[in-house]
Amino acid sequence: MNFGIDLLSFQTSQYYLDLRTLAQARGEEPEKFYQGLGQEKMAVPPPDEDIVTLGAGAAKALLDQEGSQDIELLLFCTESGVDQSKAAGLFVHGLLNLPARCRVVEIKEACYAATAGLQLALAVVRRNPRKKALVIGADVARYDLGSPGEPTQGCGAVALLITAQPRLLAVDEEAGFHAANVMDFWRPNYRTEALVDGKYSTLVYLSTLVQAWRQYRELTGRKLTDLARCCFHLPFTRLAAKAYIRLCREEQLPPPSAEELQHKLGPALVYNRLTGNTYAASLYESLTALLENDTEDLDDRRISLFSYGSGCMAEFFSGIVQPGYRQHLMAERHRNMLANRVELTYRQYEDIFRYQVPEDEGDHVFAPYRTGFYRLQVINKHVRCYQATA
Ligand code: HMG
Repeated sequence: MNFGIDLLSFQTSQYYLDLRTLAQARGEEPEKFYQGLGQEKMAVPPPDEDIVTLGAGAAKALLDQEGSQDIELLLFCTESGVDQSKAAGLFVHGLLNLPARCRVVEIKEACYAATAGLQLALAVVRRNPRKKALVIGADVARYDLGSPGEPTQGCGAVALLITAQPRLLAVDEEAGFHAANVMDFWRPNYRTEALVDGKYSTLVYLSTLVQAWRQYRELTGRKLTDLARCCFHLPFTRLAAKAYIRLCREEQLPPPSAEELQHKLGPALVYNRLTGNTYAASLYESLTALLENDTEDLDDRRISLFSYGSGCMAEFFSGIVQPGYRQHLMAERHRNMLANRVELTYRQYEDIFRYQVPEDEGDHVFAPYRTGFYRLQVINKHVRCYQATA
């Protein structure tokens, strides 16, 4: 029996900043961001949007189609938690009316968290193949204004339904994974913006990719050429090419041509280029983009996924795209969502960025911005209350 991702849904903010606008404000060449980083736009969450509204929105789109019966596990994977104690998944559990018989927990390990969630969910569903698990990865990526990380900000969420006999991707059991205690990127509890040693983080990403790949290769006996497409965690999309080139070098293959890079990686970059880093959601946003934008039929083809979370954890694994997968995608919803966003001016972006969630006991009602299916309505005596928008 196969186990894997049955359905995939993605949600991002309705607002974005074009990186040309940011480049102008920072005195940089727009090409540095557009080409050098491979990023065009970054999604900016308004004050009444957070990981709960994004995650619940992604999951609602999926459950509207599928229903929530048999879901006994909800793993909410994030590094942008809204509470030190309560799992964000419990807000989502309530908003989506999930069954009371459901285990709900929050998982954290930087951008790697949703892969931990996926692997745990697979283990649970393997134990009882009649049951399903919902894995949500949701994050808001924030760096200091004017810092090198700023153009890689973004926000978004993915929801993955994990089942036996999945309709999209049967996940292979073998995986290469690698942990190390490094300080490449971190966010102390008292900060709302991450701290990062940017160049070092990229070096660690690439070196742990090689470690995880070598293990995967040893466990499976597969070669790079056995993988029809490669999805990577995408803090900025240009890193995918660097990662693939590194794997070619490791395999003593000639450097890939621009055509090969486009063929192996291109369709998987389409959405992340328009949202920026979505941390835990990023790799699965990229998988969504691949399945929805690759013009070639990927039925029965093996694709790879590389997950990286600073701190750090890396994992290289793979899966077989299921025959008929195209009928089960939400491509139109995702394309419309990205096409209908509102562009911010630089001033609007900075005003939103500087907005801080109130920390006193008062009754704070949030002005309504454009959001997806849910919004943060009020924080009263430190209690967050969410509402449906429709
Ligand atoms: P930087 O130092 O300002 O940029 O920030 P740069 O000077 O290295 O330039 C970037 C690229 O643009 C270079 O290309 C330049 O040559 C090129 P490269 O040499 O690398 O191939 N460039 C141009 N290209 C065309 N026209 C031009 C032009 N000018 C320059 N005019 C940095 C880059 C990535 C350091 C920064 O954005 C940063 O700190 N980002 C945040 C950290 C990050 O994303 N790290 C990635 C790996 S760690 C990770 O993935 C984990 C993470 O997602 C967090 C988590 O796990 O939770 C971040």
